[in-house]
Amino acid sequence: MARGTFITLEGGEGSGKSTLVRELTDRLTATGREVLATREPGGIPIAEAIREIILHVDNTAMDPLTEALLYAAARRQHLAEKVLPALERGAVVICDRFVDSSLAYQGYARGLGIESIWEINRFAIESRMPDLTLYLDIEPEIGLSRLEAGGRTKVDRLDLEGMDFHRMVREGYRKVAGMFPERFVTLDASVSQQDLADKAWQYLSDALARL
Ligand code: TMP
Repeated sequence: MARGTFITLEGGEGSGKSTLVRELTDRLTATGREVLATREPGGIPIAEAIREIILHVDNTAMDPLTEALLYAAARRQHLAEKVLPALERGAVVICDRFVDSSLAYQGYARGLGIESIWEINRFAIESRMPDLTLYLDIEPEIGLSRLEAGGRTKVDRLDLEGMDFHRMVREGYRKVAGMFPERFVTLDASVSQQDLADKAWQYLSDALARL
C-alpha cells in the first residue's frame, strides 16, 4: 500500500480549484513535505494529448460514452505514470479533479448513469480512491461569471454547455457526496479565497494527522 496521501479537489467551472491547489501546495511545502500538484485530464504528455482531443471545440461529434472512456483512459495513464509513484515515495499528491468529476459530469449531467461510470472508472483506477476530497461548491452562475471577470482566453468544448448542464453537474456532485461521506468534504466556495484556503487547510491538516 502506498505511503503517501492522495488529496483531490473537485468543483464546477470557476469554483477556484486551481488557486486553491497553489495555496495548499505552498502551505504544505512550507511544512517540509514533498508535494505533487497535478491535474486531470492531463498532468503528463499522454493524458494532456487525450485532454486536447476531449476538449477540442471541433469535436462536437464525440459520443458521450467515448468521452467517458477517454477521461478514464487519461486518468489511468496519469495515475500509473505520475500519481502512484509519488504516493509510493510518500508524497502528498494534490490533484485538480479525479474520478468524482466523471461521476458528476458524465454519470449524472450527461445522463450515462453514475453506476456505469463508476464501473469503468473502478476498472481504470483499480479502486485507488483519494484519502480526502475537497469539493468546492458554488452556484454555477457565480462560478461562470468569475471566469468571465477573470478574462478567460481559452474556450473549450465543455464551455459551450448551457447553464442547465452546469446545474446538473452541481446536483451530480451532491449525489456523489452522499456515496462517499467518509472522504468527501463540501466547502462553500463563494467565500473569499483566503477563507476558503483556511478552511481547506484545516481539513487537510486533520487528514494528514490522521492518515
Ligand atoms: P478543468 O477546466 O477543470 O481543467 O476541466 C476540464 C473540463 O473537463 C471541465 O469542464 C470538467 C471536465 N471533466 C469531465 O467532464 N470529466 C472528468 O472526468 C474530468 C476530469 C473533467
